[in-house]
Amino acid sequence: MIESVKVTVYRVSKSAVLAAVVLCAVYPRQLSQASAQASIQPSTQPSTQARPATIGEQQATEDRLRKPGWWPTKGSFPRTDFVGDEVCAGCHADIFASQKSTSMAQTAARASKSELLAKHPLNYKLGTYAYQASANGQTATFSVTDGTTSFSTPLQWAFGIRMGQSYLFEKNGGTYMAPLTYYPEAGVWDFTVDQPHSVPESFDKAGGRHLLDSEVRGCFNCHNTAATTSDHFDPEHSRPGITCEACHGPGADHIAVAKSGLADQGTTLILNPRQLNPVDSVDFCGSCHRTWWDVTLSGATGLKSLRFPPYRIENSRCWGKGDARLTCVACHDPHKPLDREAAAYDQRCLSCHVNSAGAKPTADHPGAACPTASKNCVSCHMPKYQVVDIPVKFTDHQIRIVRPNETIPE
Ligand code: HEC
Ligand code: HEC
Ligand code: HEC
Ligand code: HEC
Ligand code: HEC
Ligand code: HEC
Ligand code: HEC
Repeated sequence: MIESVKVTVYRVSKSAVLAAVVLCAVYPRQLSQASAQASIQPSTQPSTQARPATIGEQQATEDRLRKPGWWPTKGSFPRTDFVGDEVCAGCHADIFASQKSTSMAQTAARASKSELLAKHPLNYKLGTYAYQASANGQTATFSVTDGTTSFSTPLQWAFGIRMGQSYLFEKNGGTYMAPLTYYPEAGVWDFTVDQPHSVPESFDKAGGRHLLDSEVRGCFNCHNTAATTSDHFDPEHSRPGITCEACHGPGADHIAVAKSGLADQGTTLILNPRQLNPVDSVDFCGSCHRTWWDVTLSGATGLKSLRFPPYRIENSRCWGKGDARLTCVACHDPHKPLDREAAAYDQRCLSCHVNSAGAKPTADHPGAACPTASKNCVSCHMPKYQVVDIPVKFTDHQIRIVRPNETIPE
């Protein structure tokens, strides 16, 4: 039932990929605050970027989803195959305990239960429009008024946790996204990323953006677990956040096998992504973070691509012909919170780079030594930039020498 897939044919529906990428809000926008910094102007030169050597093995998520077996965001498995992460906890208690504290596990919630919204109610003036939103554990509400006309509605869902939190509500049978988002690191309310960053033209537009059905499905498929089962979209029965089965696939068969004792003989009937080759492994995380092809086909290249680590990392010279020492899981344990200390990543770099003055690269360590420093590598070679006009900085996963006043490679 579970197999890792390796195919070199691209039958990609460009519009489907485009829809998926646009969902998470990556419009080529004017760089308002960002453009003040000369060093992050987009390059006007045609891209001289060599394509990754692994381009023939990389795939678009759309293609991955067409193959048999499990892949994240796949919606064809029946709901009865999903058991819930508390059941996994019964045998994998340590992983369960640490995974719960990750941003991925907390990346969606019923708006009424949003702690961010409860702690930081919205009170915002935009031209003549006044916005309010709040939550108390039981209910969450959103309202806007221009002094004459008012609109007030319950908020249903909160998406995102560390970088920002956006809110969805229902109106006239459609799903809308509130025009303002809370940004926890900056501690401010500001425009939602794919929303006009200006005073709304009319009261009708002031309430937010009407999302396409495909966009709504996207939010749930990437931020929740089992929102689509048996190819039927059913967000009410999804599990908020990315829990075990969002990555590993439905667990019922695995548990039956584990209980029978067959697991001890190596039959586990669940995907262990550790077995994936480097390209497949990066595409695996790319099913939500966007694969190199997802980004390329949607045209979200250039500075916007900083939001999509698979694209940036595969464009790094370090990536070479694809290497397990540079997959997402080489640096990020998906069961643990993001490490914010630069030093924590040094061993990853030094698994390939020699690190003493004058040392020559070897077959084992193909990377040269740094002439400048011997620790905190990512602080200089993976800088953070604000690239879309939201108060959030993204880490550039295109590892490189950063020269003063140079342009960011696209
Ligand atoms: C009844 C106990 C039990 C439950 C419940 C359970 N597992 Fe396992 N799991 C095992 C055993 C035993 C193994 C094999 C030995 C090991 O790796 O610890 C295993 C292995 C795995 C592996 C590695 C598979 C491989 O082929 O290397 C993954 C991934 C996994 N479990 C995920 C899950 C998830 C996700 C859940 C919940 C949906 C879950 N498990 C629930 C007992 C269980
Ligand atoms: C089912 C979709 C999905 C898959 C699959 C997925 N991610 Fe994520 N990931 C997300 C979302 C959504 C967020 C945003 C979390 C937030 O709201 O801050 C995220 C955030 C992250 C973060 C940032 C955490 C932080 O605290 O800011 C890292 C690191 C990360 N993912 C790594 C991975 C790796 C490694 C893999 C592959 C093993 C992976 N992700 C697979 C959806 C996914
Ligand atoms: C293809 C998968 C995917 C889809 C579809 C998607 N997201 Fe995300 N979302 C992510 C990932 C991965 C992150 C973390 C990194 C990033 O910002 O791209 C994220 C981050 C976020 C954040 C944090 C702030 C930010 O902009 O980084 C918010 C808020 C958010 N998503 C809301 C939504 C909403 C609302 C929708 C539906 C309109 C949606 N997302 C659709 C994968 C997705
Ligand atoms: C964001 C995706 C993601 C989520 C969510 C996730 N895992 Fe994993 N899991 C992985 C990846 C990737 C690996 C392989 C890691 C590696 O190669 O080092 C893995 C490996 C494992 C393994 C095998 C460990 C080994 O040493 O081979 C087990 C068991 C497991 N996960 C259980 C769980 C359980 C239980 C949960 C929920 C509490 C969970 N995972 C949530 C991505 C995820
Ligand atoms: C060589 C190490 C390395 C690899 C490989 C790597 N990352 Fe990162 N990643 C980092 C560092 C360093 C940060 C920034 C940590 C911090 O906040 O200080 C980061 C941050 C992130 C974030 C948080 C948002 C941001 O831009 O800061 C996400 C999401 C993420 N990585 C996803 C991925 C995914 C998906 C992959 C696989 C394509 C990947 N990373 C591969 C080192 C790595
Ligand atoms: C999989 C092995 C591998 C890993 C892991 C790795 N590198 Fe590299 N890196 C290389 C190789 C090989 C080159 C030389 C590429 C070439 O010139 O052909 C290189 C090149 C570089 C360059 C020069 C790039 C340029 O544009 O000239 C820098 C800077 C660099 N690496 C820094 C790092 C840092 C910092 C890390 C950790 C965050 C890291 N590397 C992780 C293999 C790796
Ligand atoms: C203080 C900032 C800083 C830190 C920290 C740093 N580097 Fe560098 N690195 C540079 C600069 C600047 C250059 C370009 C030097 C030059 O060309 O004169 C460079 C060059 C390199 C090169 C290219 C060398 C060559 O011969 O082509 C590699 C590889 C590299 N660094 C890897 C690393 C690794 C690995 C670490 C961590 C052990 C690291 N760097 C830490 C600033 C830094």
